Amino acid sequence: MSGIEIEGLRPLDGEVTVQGSKNAVLPMMAAAVLHRGTTVLKNVPRIQDVFCMIDILTSMGCKCNLEEHRLTIDASSIGRVAIPREYVTAMRSSIVLLGAFLGRAGEAATYYPGGCSIGSRPIDLHLYGLGRLGAQISEQEGGRIAAAAQRLAGGRVRFPYPSVGATENVLLAAVKAQGTTVIEGAAREPEIVSLCRMLEGMGARISGIGEETVVVEGVNELRDSEYTAPGDRIVAGTYLACVMAAGGRAYLRGADAAQLEGVLKVLRRMGADIQTQPSGIRVRMGRRPKPVSVRTAPYPGFPTDLQSPLLSLLAVCDGRGQVWETVFEGRFATAGQLRRMGACIELDGNRAEVRGVYPLRGTRVEAPDLRGGAALVVAGLAAEGRTGIVGCSHILRGYEDICGDLKAMGARIRRRTEADEGTDGR
Ligand code: EPZ
Repeated sequence: MSGIEIEGLRPLDGEVTVQGSKNAVLPMMAAAVLHRGTTVLKNVPRIQDVFCMIDILTSMGCKCNLEEHRLTIDASSIGRVAIPREYVTAMRSSIVLLGAFLGRAGEAATYYPGGCSIGSRPIDLHLYGLGRLGAQISEQEGGRIAAAAQRLAGGRVRFPYPSVGATENVLLAAVKAQGTTVIEGAAREPEIVSLCRMLEGMGARISGIGEETVVVEGVNELRDSEYTAPGDRIVAGTYLACVMAAGGRAYLRGADAAQLEGVLKVLRRMGADIQTQPSGIRVRMGRRPKPVSVRTAPYPGFPTDLQSPLLSLLAVCDGRGQVWETVFEGRFATAGQLRRMGACIELDGNRAEVRGVYPLRGTRVEAPDLRGGAALVVAGLAAEGRTGIVGCSHILRGYEDICGDLKAMGARIRRRTEADEGTDGR
C-alpha cells in the first residue's frame, strides 16, 4: 500500500496554486449529460474521483478528453442509462447521474451506494425529490434502483435537511422538466452555486441561486458551453491548517476567501494571521494554535469536510478544545490515529474533547477516509520525527498533489511506494 512520509516540525514558507474543486466538478460532469452536444470544463483537478466519473460517462457512451486541467465531454450519443454497480461502489457521488439521465432520457438506473466510513449515507432525500418531479422509482433485486418518467414535470420539493447531493440531483432533473420546479430547503454550498452558474451557461433558467429556495424554469434545449470550476475550498482549508500546524507562512493562489468565511473566522480565533486578496489567501502562524469550540454545519457553517483537519490542529493547541460533528454520524475515525501520535482526544457521541499536546509523536498511521487522511498530514507536520501514513489512495481521491504542494511550501514530505517499504525493512 503506497504511503506518505513526513518529517515534522519544519516551518513552511512558500506558495501554491489551489486545485479546482472536486465537489464542484463532479456534479458539473453529470450536468454535461443533459445536453446532446459538447461541454468544456476548465480547472478540473486530476484526481481519482474525476477519473472515475470519466470512466462512468465513457461507459455510458460519452466521449471524454482530459488534457491537463481541461475536460471536454461530448454527450451527443449516449447508449446506456444504467450505471454499472462497480462504479457506484467506487464512488458514491455517482448518484447525481440519476437526475442527469432522468433529465436527458426520462430513465436511469443505479444502485444503493451504501455507507462508508463517515456514515450510513442514505439517499431517501434524493429519491423523494426526484419523485416530486414525476419520476417513478422502483427498488429492485440487489439494491438496484430504476427511475423512469414519461416527461419530468416541474414540482415543489421541500427538503427537511439541506442535502448537497439531493439538491444537485433535483436541480439536474429540473433543468429540462416541463414547467417550474421550486426547491425549498436547498443546500447553499458554493458547489451548488457553481453548478447553477454552469447550468445557466448551458441555457438553463434558474433563480434564487445560493438561497434556501431555488426556482428552475424547465427548458427544451441546452447548448454547447464552457465553464471554469472554482478553487477547491476544502483543499485550501486543509493547506491553511498545514501552515498553522507547522508554523511559518504561505500564499494560496486561487483560494476564494468568500467561500471560506466561516472557516477563516475560526482559524483567526486560533491565532492565524490571515490576509485575503482577490487572487488568493495569505496566512502566517508564529505560535501554537489557540483552543476553540466548533460545531460543523451545512453552509455557511463550519464545513464537515474540514472537521478532521481542525481536530489535528486542536490536538496540538495550547489548551482544551471541542468539536461537535453534526453532519455525519461517523466522522471521528481520525481520532484513533491521532491518539497513536500522542493526541489526547475523548469522544462522547458526536462530540470530541481535545487537550492539546505539543509536539505530537511521529509514527505509522493509517488514513481512515479522504479528509481523515489529509488530517494526518496536518498532524505529521506538528509531530516530532517521521510520520508514515498508509492508505493514501483515500487522499488521492480528493487531493491532486498534496505532497508536491506541501513540498513547494517547504515541507519535508514524500510519497513512499511498496518498493521503498522494502528498502529499509519496514
Ligand atoms: C457532499 O456529500 C460532499 N460530497 C461531501 O464531501 C460533504 O461532506 C457533504 O456534501 C456535506 O457538505 C460531494 O459533493 C461529492 P449530504 P453528500 O447529502 O451530498 C444526510 C468530501 O470529503 N442525508 O449533504 O453525500 C447524510 O446522511 C465529501 O469531499 C440523508 O439523510 O452530503 C448526511 O448525514 C465527503 N438522506 C447529511 O444528510 C439523503 O438522501 C449530509 O449529506 C442524503 C443525505
